[in-house]
Amino acid sequence: MRPIQILPSMLASDFSKLGQEVSDIMGAGGDIVHLDVMDGHFVPNITFGPDVIKAIRKCTDKPFDTHLMIAPTDPFLEAFAKAGSDYITVHAEAGPHVHRSLQAIRALGKKAGVAVNPGTPEDLVEYLLDDVDLILAMTVNPGFGGQSFIRPVLEKVRRIRAMVGDRPIDIEVDGGVTADNAGDCAKAGANFLVAGSAAFKGGPNAYAANIEAIRKAALSARGELV
Ligand code: DX5
Ligand code: ZN
Repeated sequence: MRPIQILPSMLASDFSKLGQEVSDIMGAGGDIVHLDVMDGHFVPNITFGPDVIKAIRKCTDKPFDTHLMIAPTDPFLEAFAKAGSDYITVHAEAGPHVHRSLQAIRALGKKAGVAVNPGTPEDLVEYLLDDVDLILAMTVNPGFGGQSFIRPVLEKVRRIRAMVGDRPIDIEVDGGVTADNAGDCAKAGANFLVAGSAAFKGGPNAYAANIEAIRKAALSARGELV
């Protein structure tokens, strides 16, 4: 089984001290930084772009996972790669040529991810399995943090897990993930758990305990808690 990784989503951080938040949450045990890029077009919200990602790249040595909720994606891939992303994920719904986008991400030397919205069937990724390093099953409708986890997506995660088989692909869940449902996510086959609100709640003094609670729930569901 691929290792459980906890990915704090900076969307839930205090943007007035973004760099400090990156170093605090990663120092508190986050494994990979999750960065939500929104364009006000593909999703009804706007966040930040490559310059902001570039500016916070120096705040931690840990990898950056850039979740692009933008359309079109292709004209911006190079900028997000140069900004310091290690993973770049594009939505399958963002355009007609997702396969081309995934090839472009790999050509830039980055790990390629494909995301599917809660209402999108897993079939959409079936013919992309050799072109992705990461599959993201959205457990909320993208656009905002702090929404409730959509449970039927767990069945989709199980189906993705079965489709993936032995391929070296990480399966990510994003949206409403908490210590209460992290075990179900892990059991269904997800190993990348994004957490916004659940990671940042209570402020910096609570970050380590928040991340530990999510990690423990996931590891214990997989029988890996020592
Ligand atoms: C939603 C974003 C998520 C969001 C998760 O569109 O993709 O990454 O930050 O936040 P929580 O964990 O609060 O649902
Ligand atoms: Zn996200």
